[in-house]
Amino acid sequence: MKQATTRISPEDIARQKDFCAQVAAMNAPLPTPPLAFVDTYGCQQNEADSERIRGYLAEMGYGFTDDERTAAVVVINTCAVREHAEQRVLGNVGALTHTKRHNPNQIICLCGCMMQEPHNVEKVRRSFRHVDLVFGPHALWRFPELLWRIQTRRGRIFDTPDEAGSIAEGMPVRRQGSIRAWVSIMYGCNNFCSYCIVPYVRGRERSRDPEDILSEVRELAAAGYKDITLLGQNVNSYGRDLDADVDFAWLLEQVNAVPGDFLIRFMTSHPKDASERLFDAMARCEKVAPHLHLPFQAGNDRVLAAMNRGYTREHYLGLVRSLRQRIPDIVLTSDIIVGFPGETTAEFEDTLTVLREVEFDALFTFLYSPREGTPAARLPDPLSKEEKAANFQRLVDLQNEISAKKQQGYVGRTLRCLVDEPSDDPRHNLNARTAGGRLVHLTGDPALLGQFVDLKITGASTWTLFGEPAE
Ligand code: 5AD
Ligand code: SF4
Repeated sequence: MKQATTRISPEDIARQKDFCAQVAAMNAPLPTPPLAFVDTYGCQQNEADSERIRGYLAEMGYGFTDDERTAAVVVINTCAVREHAEQRVLGNVGALTHTKRHNPNQIICLCGCMMQEPHNVEKVRRSFRHVDLVFGPHALWRFPELLWRIQTRRGRIFDTPDEAGSIAEGMPVRRQGSIRAWVSIMYGCNNFCSYCIVPYVRGRERSRDPEDILSEVRELAAAGYKDITLLGQNVNSYGRDLDADVDFAWLLEQVNAVPGDFLIRFMTSHPKDASERLFDAMARCEKVAPHLHLPFQAGNDRVLAAMNRGYTREHYLGLVRSLRQRIPDIVLTSDIIVGFPGETTAEFEDTLTVLREVEFDALFTFLYSPREGTPAARLPDPLSKEEKAANFQRLVDLQNEISAKKQQGYVGRTLRCLVDEPSDDPRHNLNARTAGGRLVHLTGDPALLGQFVDLKITGASTWTLFGEPAE
């Protein structure tokens, strides 16, 4: 049954803009605009959320800084997906006691997925007394009101309601760049993979109305954005909660029809919902990048079932075959977890055989990290840390070998690439991406930034290609 998603009313968003105006009026008499520091951990959805936080902050009269010591407002947008990210957040938030000692009026805000986990909220309440404002992803749309309350009253605020989640349209956005942009098409996740905290902290799947998505894409295309990534935890289930006969393949076609010269990417796709209908749409839509990020997580069917992934190894391999029939030069990337509770080394070796069979272009590899409150965290986990680390290394070594081979295959080819950022490699001044998303370093006129350019690939390393503008 379709569940009704709460939509935040335009009046409620207008009220938030009134709070923006009130904070801006408080900031206006200052000799220079006060500064805000926004730090983002985790995935692209968090990056997209931070662009809305910055949009609100700009409306409230703040400028921006990369130095937390000079900031009047610090916002840390946290990630809960693995323990390592959580530890980094907690360490950095702890260090903010020093900046606050120098600047007692500094307002410190924590938001994002960790702030939707009760044990972390408790920790902040008790042990991080320098933090003024805590809000979860569900409360992001009312950030101006929360900041206004902090500035006009005493005391700390914790706004972390446990809810299925809502959709808020019309928040201001301050994007980080002018070439690549994120567009959220849906929020939340219904899959409850047994290791994953996301469904608990980001609520149920809810899709934005197609018209809202399309008008955002039209604006971006008209503003000259060249690379637009559609975001959702599981984009393949787009539309299921809407009262309209739409799905993700349909949405891709609609986005593809928006006028302009830009590439369309999307993530993340779930193998249980990826369909031939989607692959057909990808093949038909000339703006859709020939890249699919399709996480398989593990190569053994018992482990996949224990992960509650809803597909088998054979199903996954069948998807890859069907996709390659339609788009032979598709760039394939994936996520893998090593050391899921109870995964034996023999079962792990089934992951290695998937790598050999598919030959992914690149992988994101993770050591399993127990997340409090998820079913997997309660499973017996007999394999030693050392054995997991050794398996992890075998995975990385095999993928490096495959990636290096695949990268060599690009040498000598001429590819249409998007020059998308200055390079931090000392030997080259620019970075570009192939349509499939592979990184290319090149030396060229900085005026190429933001343009599609034919690049001749002259060399390759495991992770990077090297190119020069073709004659
Ligand atoms: N431990 C390790 N990796 C995880 N991921 C999600 N939850 C965990 C966890 N508890 C990985 C999955 C997912 C990616 C975004 O993060 O591979 O696809
Ligand atoms: Fe987590 Fe699975 Fe949802 Fe991805 S699909 S966010 S791994 S529960």
